[in-house]
Amino acid sequence: MLLKVAILASGNGSNAQSIFDNMNCGKLDIEIVLVVSNRPNSRVLKRAQEANIPILELDHTLYASREEFDKAMIDALQKAQAELIVLAGYMRILSSYFLNQFKDKVINIHPAILPSFKGAHGLDDAYNSGVTLTGCTVHFVNEELDSGAIIIQAAIPILSDKPLEELEARIHKIEHKIYPQAIQWFAQKRLSIVNGKIHFIKTNTLNNKICIHNKDAYLIWPPLENSF
Ligand code: GRF
Repeated sequence: MLLKVAILASGNGSNAQSIFDNMNCGKLDIEIVLVVSNRPNSRVLKRAQEANIPILELDHTLYASREEFDKAMIDALQKAQAELIVLAGYMRILSSYFLNQFKDKVINIHPAILPSFKGAHGLDDAYNSGVTLTGCTVHFVNEELDSGAIIIQAAIPILSDKPLEELEARIHKIEHKIYPQAIQWFAQKRLSIVNGKIHFIKTNTLNNKICIHNKDAYLIWPPLENSF
């Protein structure tokens, strides 16, 4: 049985694209039942259309309150029978009402190594802070911003003589590997949350190779499986 996944995004959608691509080449046990954007005409909706995935444009500015907007979103996700909600550059805070409907079924990708550099400017904040390593994190979403159980992280060096855009491009490249992997672990029912931390079920294949990439200089933990 394929896991029914919905993607919520607001902009470019390069992470959504990498999920479509990994699904289309058979690496993910999922079907994408809906892609929703709160911003009309966003690039992510065009990408989904090109991949023949159902889309919904839900302009948040047309709703009187966050709750009303979230109710419309919940309605659409339930109609689509979504079992996992993937936030991929979704630039809105989800209400408790929303999260209660999808408890432990919402995941997000953040462009920094959590719990450092939470919030909407994690990438820039890390770049400007003087740290020498930053990266990206896939985590479950709870009611506290960027604070849910961490599934997978990557560490990436900051090259101080290079512009922010160069770092952003390298982070994106790794995001496109770790997000599909995290989704596949969820689809395989290998993730459970115990005391706010991820407990991996069937860890036999998880610890057999350290994923350090010398040429592109990054480290991913836990290691990727199945050539993501
Ligand atoms: C990514 O960097 C992700 O970490 C953050 O938003 C960005 C979305 O990029 N949450 P894209 O729209 O997937 O290209």
